[in-house]
Amino acid sequence: MKKLITVLFITICFLSSKADEGMFLVHLIGEKTYSDMVKRGLKLSKEQLYSMNKNSIKDAIVLFGGGCTAEVVSKEGLLFTNHHCGYDNIASASSLEHNYLRDGFWAKSKQEEIACPGLSVQFLVKIEDVTEKVLEKLKDVKPNEITSKLPGILMEMSAKASEGTEFDVRVSSFFKGNQFLQFTYQRYKDVRLVGTPPESIGKFGGDTDNWEWPRHTGDFSIFRVYMSADGKASTEYKSTNVPYQPKHFLPVSIKGLNDGDYAMIYGYPGSTNRYETSYGIKLKTEIDNPSLVNLRDARLKCMLAEMVKDPAVKIKLASSYAGIANYWKFFDGETKQLLKHNVMAQKQKEEAAFETWAKTKPDYDNLFSNIKSAYDTWTPFAKGRVYLNEGILGSPLMAFAASLKTLDASLSNTTASAEDKNKAIANAKSSYDRFIKGENIASDKNILAIVTKMFHNDVNPAQQPTEFYTQLNASYGDLEKDETYQKFAKDVFENTMLLNADKWNAFISNPDVASLQKDLAYKTALAFVTNFNNNYSKFYTEFVANNYALNNKYLKGVLEMKKGSTLYPDANQTMRISYGNVKSYSPKDGVKFKEVCTLKGVMEKYILGNYEFDAPTKLIELINAKDYGQYIDKKANDVVVTFITTNDITGGNSGSPVLNAKGELIGLAFDGNYEALSHKIAFDGDLNRTICLDVRYLLFVVDKLGGAKNLIDELLLVKN
Ligand code: ARG
Repeated sequence: MKKLITVLFITICFLSSKADEGMFLVHLIGEKTYSDMVKRGLKLSKEQLYSMNKNSIKDAIVLFGGGCTAEVVSKEGLLFTNHHCGYDNIASASSLEHNYLRDGFWAKSKQEEIACPGLSVQFLVKIEDVTEKVLEKLKDVKPNEITSKLPGILMEMSAKASEGTEFDVRVSSFFKGNQFLQFTYQRYKDVRLVGTPPESIGKFGGDTDNWEWPRHTGDFSIFRVYMSADGKASTEYKSTNVPYQPKHFLPVSIKGLNDGDYAMIYGYPGSTNRYETSYGIKLKTEIDNPSLVNLRDARLKCMLAEMVKDPAVKIKLASSYAGIANYWKFFDGETKQLLKHNVMAQKQKEEAAFETWAKTKPDYDNLFSNIKSAYDTWTPFAKGRVYLNEGILGSPLMAFAASLKTLDASLSNTTASAEDKNKAIANAKSSYDRFIKGENIASDKNILAIVTKMFHNDVNPAQQPTEFYTQLNASYGDLEKDETYQKFAKDVFENTMLLNADKWNAFISNPDVASLQKDLAYKTALAFVTNFNNNYSKFYTEFVANNYALNNKYLKGVLEMKKGSTLYPDANQTMRISYGNVKSYSPKDGVKFKEVCTLKGVMEKYILGNYEFDAPTKLIELINAKDYGQYIDKKANDVVVTFITTNDITGGNSGSPVLNAKGELIGLAFDGNYEALSHKIAFDGDLNRTICLDVRYLLFVVDKLGGAKNLIDELLLVKN
């Protein structure tokens, strides 16, 4: 049986052939898929796309930071990625005196490049199938215990495989636990900021334009990866390190593009759930997504109100705001598109077809009625969980306070060793440093007031921490009034030792449980966390475990049922290729969207001094003077800023190279379109588009606006 699964895995990937939809594993591109790529225009051999032993395009692609993609574009380790991928590092490097977020930054020599502590990039070294090994380890584990045991098993395998080597190893699960592959990476930890446009280019259009086409965002930033002088992956920044010498780097094409051109994208898509059941979609659209969106909406308003008042607060909160806002809009759009395209009905049809196929196979008896009952049992508690995680713990103070529960437990445990206690103290110290660096009291206080009220208003009263609200009522007044919660939040923020540096330092240098336990912030966080942990977390754990086991079985059946047809595994932050074409589309009746946007559109959207639509004076001058140099698109008689393709990508692909038929860089993928925001669950063959930055706009900004000719000279430009 195990053998069969491994063979099956290879077979399906060899048979994958449908264009546009599909995020294919780079090492498993079969003949049929490859010949389809060639038919669509590809001019490269399979070995040039991916080779384990020879240098190939895959050697120019890196996993950037925790969840983006970047590509090597010069023989000296220069990296292109998105502005929103470099955002956190750009914000961290910024101050009121050197506001790179606002003004941009261009290193005119390597000496000027800025170290980015904590940032690393990972190169893929090899991939091995370890399905049999994992299944062997799982053979005595009960199906509903897999979710609790599997992460440990995979971590142990990864640790063992990397022991004594210079590599990072991770084992990833495919087809909901039906296959396992082991990925070996080389991680470089000296990565420096080389260039970024001002935010008014890199994030032009802000959240209004985010996830939308037409688009005029110059979403790029430039980094460089360094290695030690003797050519090893460096584990930290060192002044003696030298630029990384890649096995392969991407030439950059400024030849331009046409509607219909071949386009291929490599990268690290984070997650999709294309086999989500109709029951999952119901929970998502009815409870999980709307709750998250409501809570984030409220938190974002509190943050923005302070950010617009003070540039220092703006720098401090920018990165966290952008992250929260990005998926606030995503989940809102996802719900709308899932409903609009009636994805639930599509799934019900697929499930009915599966049931017909499985009729004679007792293995799958009652599969969907069991899935339904798992959802039915969990659903009544689902809202409370989102309100805890996205609401109460959406207050940074509450999240930090809740994290001190481990310290509390360790200090209260009379049998804990001194070593354990010291470890808990050290962890609390580093969480504090992270927390305080990003903390803005004014916005956080308003967040706490609002989310405690929303919890009270929206969550089933029987599931609320009763004692907390009774006391709140007794001490601060009517639970229906905003001012009750505002008075309460003020009290928390004024009195907690977690926001008083002297008190915190005194506490953490000699921590005693009693003072932690009577801290108002800690008590508040604990009231909500304990309420969930004691009463509802067991239902959640049970739900996740059952759902995993049932979906694992469903996918096992699907693999068998669809043997020989186009299948690809869900995204899971492993390297994938997707291929398609540059292509215009019609978002709705009577409307046609062109395949490119130009600087003309920047001028149309430009609003002087606007938070989202301002643009640098220098850019306006260049546009007015039509000073486009070699970056002009002759057809458009303008600079093409962005274009769209039919490629299948998702979050994590941000920064991914968009390559032409010859493997030359033509753009950077940076977004998806609104009409297809249901893409994590269902790919829409008509509407799905990937939004890409045209690399000529990147070069135009670097050259004409940034004056960084040094960087242009470093590239291999393909002109004709
Ligand atoms: N939607 C983009 C992505 O997830 C991120 C865009 C960031 N820009 C923004 N305005 N938040 O890849």
